[in-house]
Amino acid sequence: MASLKSKVIEIVENTAKSIPFVRKRIEQEYDKMLSDIEKSVKPYKENTETHAVLPKEGLSQETLLSMMQKLQTKEQDKWTDGYVSGAVYHGDSKHIQFLDEVMALHSQVNPLHSDIWPSANKYEAEIVAMTANMMHGNAVETPDEVCGTLSSGGTESILLAMKTYRDKARAERGIKKPEMVVPTTAHVAFDKAAQYFGIKMRHIPVDKSFRADLKALKKAINKNTIVVVGSAPSFPHGVIDPIEEMSEIARKHKIGFHTDSCLGGFVIPWAEKLGYDVPKIDFRLSGVTSISVDTHKYGYAAKGTSVVLYRNPKLRHYQYYTATDWPGGLYFSPSFAGSRPGALSAACWATLLSVGEQGYLEATKKIIEAAEIIKKGINEIPELHILGNPLWVISFASDTLNIYQILDAMGEKGWSLNGLHRPSAVHIALTLRHTQAGVAERFVTDLSEAVEKVKANPKAEGGMAPVYGLAATLPFKGAISDILKRYIDVLYKL
Ligand SMILES: Cc1ncc(COP(=O)(O)O)c(C=O)c1O
Repeated sequence: MASLKSKVIEIVENTAKSIPFVRKRIEQEYDKMLSDIEKSVKPYKENTETHAVLPKEGLSQETLLSMMQKLQTKEQDKWTDGYVSGAVYHGDSKHIQFLDEVMALHSQVNPLHSDIWPSANKYEAEIVAMTANMMHGNAVETPDEVCGTLSSGGTESILLAMKTYRDKARAERGIKKPEMVVPTTAHVAFDKAAQYFGIKMRHIPVDKSFRADLKALKKAINKNTIVVVGSAPSFPHGVIDPIEEMSEIARKHKIGFHTDSCLGGFVIPWAEKLGYDVPKIDFRLSGVTSISVDTHKYGYAAKGTSVVLYRNPKLRHYQYYTATDWPGGLYFSPSFAGSRPGALSAACWATLLSVGEQGYLEATKKIIEAAEIIKKGINEIPELHILGNPLWVISFASDTLNIYQILDAMGEKGWSLNGLHRPSAVHIALTLRHTQAGVAERFVTDLSEAVEKVKANPKAEGGMAPVYGLAATLPFKGAISDILKRYIDVLYKL
């Protein structure tokens, strides 16, 4: 039914586009929107030199460093002072300085060359082992079996895991038309995996608490299903899916179950130790066969690392790439990239060891305490309500006001929050930046003022509100997708 509907929309859309005046009108709208976007994403166009060709003579290192320092200084305040949702998860200057030193020491290192830099392989093996241990990798029957690899981030970990399940199903079950069952609230990286690897996506809805619907899950599984996915927690609403029940259903069908704990992998284990009410999401559940955990989020490493874990090495083998007849020699690599930045692996390893269990426990406690202040504050604003029952990634909506106008009003106060849709909402992922004195309280004050502002002038125009409004109401998904593609074009414009 859904595919018939989208086919009809596609036909109507293509027909509409083929009418010259409709196409002209669409182009005019696009141009206007993109010129606004360009102004906001290209702030240096007017006041810095643009380099479209290599300089004849190289510029001096001092000149370059000073120019880049200026740009960084301009961009720093917003995240340093805790105005940003997610993005920078630690951000203390001493921690950053330490990461910088470690990365400088390893700028030449490439883990692809294990003969030259065995140190990088030591770091990566230990990062995987420490993360597996956090996820109770030692709770499976044969303790050495949980294993994994490093990747460049949450998306790559997810892509790798989905490719792994596709290849396993093809080799062991002869499945040629693989399908994956994924809640609508799971990260879009799963849709990307479906598109890249030719896996049919079967989305299942979430219930009123924004957790995956188990009845829908049972109905969606069929003989082509290769994997079921659950989030711990989900990006939009910070809610943990019923991983125990979902993984058990997958186990009974003898298919894989992936816990996406990219966002929560370095919070949930510590929250559990601190006594917060969090469910099991990891290898203690016998149906869980893989987990993605981002070291570059709440693991506090520099951007560019994540861990994908598997219940056993046999499953991990489906991830690897090997070539035995390439004229360039025997070739093998664990993940998508060939050469990789060893500096990031080194910084990740050094972060895990320098923060340590006590550091993660303290960080988690501080973040959850800041979240409690914010949740209480939101609950006291009558026009707003929190979606689901989140721990530290908090989404809120309004039945009476346009939530995107509130998002814009928060933007005017310096906040960079995330707009969500289906349903319309806004979220903030709390990090250590928000645990600084007064930040959570400032959020609550600013939010109640933003609500008052929108109440006083509910018809105000401009900002993100119309863009989200358009995405919600426009029947032509292709038009929105076109705009997003052109947005990326703008990013690459000089
Ligand atoms: C639940 C979840 N999974 C996956 C990802 C993707 O991570 P990345 O942006 O590192 O690719 C995110 C990012 O926020 C996430 O929240």
